[in-house]
Amino acid sequence: MNKNIAVIKGDGIGPEIVDEAIKVLDAISQKYNHTFSYDYILMGGCSIDVCGTPLSDEAIEIAKKSDAVLLGSIGGDTTTSPWYKLEPSLRPEAGLLKMRKSLNLFANLRPAYLYNELKGACPLKEEITEGGFDMMIVRELTGGLYFGDRETKEIDGQMVAHDNLVYSENEIKRIAKRGFDIAMKRNKKVTSVDKANVLDSSRLWRKVVNEVSQDYPEVTLEHMLVDNCAMQLVKDPKQFDVILTENMFGDILSDEASMVTGSIGMLSSASLREDKLGMYEPSHGSAPDIAGKNVANPIATILSAAMMLRYSFDMDKEADNIEKAIEKVLEKGYRTIDIMSKGKEEVSCSRMGDLIVENL
Ligand code: IPM
Ligand code: MG
Repeated sequence: MNKNIAVIKGDGIGPEIVDEAIKVLDAISQKYNHTFSYDYILMGGCSIDVCGTPLSDEAIEIAKKSDAVLLGSIGGDTTTSPWYKLEPSLRPEAGLLKMRKSLNLFANLRPAYLYNELKGACPLKEEITEGGFDMMIVRELTGGLYFGDRETKEIDGQMVAHDNLVYSENEIKRIAKRGFDIAMKRNKKVTSVDKANVLDSSRLWRKVVNEVSQDYPEVTLEHMLVDNCAMQLVKDPKQFDVILTENMFGDILSDEASMVTGSIGMLSSASLREDKLGMYEPSHGSAPDIAGKNVANPIATILSAAMMLRYSFDMDKEADNIEKAIEKVLEKGYRTIDIMSKGKEEVSCSRMGDLIVENL
């Protein structure tokens, strides 16, 4: 198969980790006789530096025409980088939000699970994580607080700011369906997370999710308030299969869930819409403090490339191959510094990429 991939290396460690993912994709294309071609586009801080905007219209057009988008990471140190002296709509993150909205990537999938090999990195007590956990956060990505009206203005001599949280029935329905579809392929449980004891948007969310659930009699649905969910994630992460939630709650809970696994450098994500086009990126950020040192963990990006093969290109065996190669490399004891533990062998970012290719 021929596939065109729009590649955004981005900022910080982005270029290093993306290079390793491309290394793995090239090895896969050789092994399975595919042709992957790459269009490199700019987004985030590097785009501000070159084009004066965090995402140009040309970059969006290239992404729209591609079969999938692979992204490293964007953004810099928010206290020291000059990008954060710009007005909010010109900062690196605005480019990411514009890309999500322009491509209509409404469904963000963020897996969080405990790797057997990396149990030691989990900050929770062993009795809590015994047997492991494996959840998928399904986060709505193009609505809610992130995209509602916002304004800061002076009223009666003081500054006042507001951000609107808006959801329509259709927006809730399509993400809910996605959540239930994913649950059908997993352990058939959906925990829908909202703040229905306070917010109107959450009460509508709950009503629509209940309606959608009628079409999925095999899936067990429970509703959970977001503050309780934050607590349950550390108290008993094993109870979760699919967590379905709106944009802002999903942003916060997915960081918490990844921390609970203890290995954020291992977690991938996919942002999808109705058709096959998707954007794939690691769950972690751009880590400007370690950028350019060849010590970053490329595994989350390589796993994101595997998700791309699976979800956008229907290349399941190729994706399996990558995931198994990563497990093998971990079993053999190789670790980047973020997941290093006693008795294991510490390797660089590029060496980790090489090892994964060798184990395909
Ligand atoms: C994420 C990030 C983004 C978000 C930022 C960088 C705008 O935190 O992908 O979770 O809030 O969605
Ligand atoms: Mg986030």
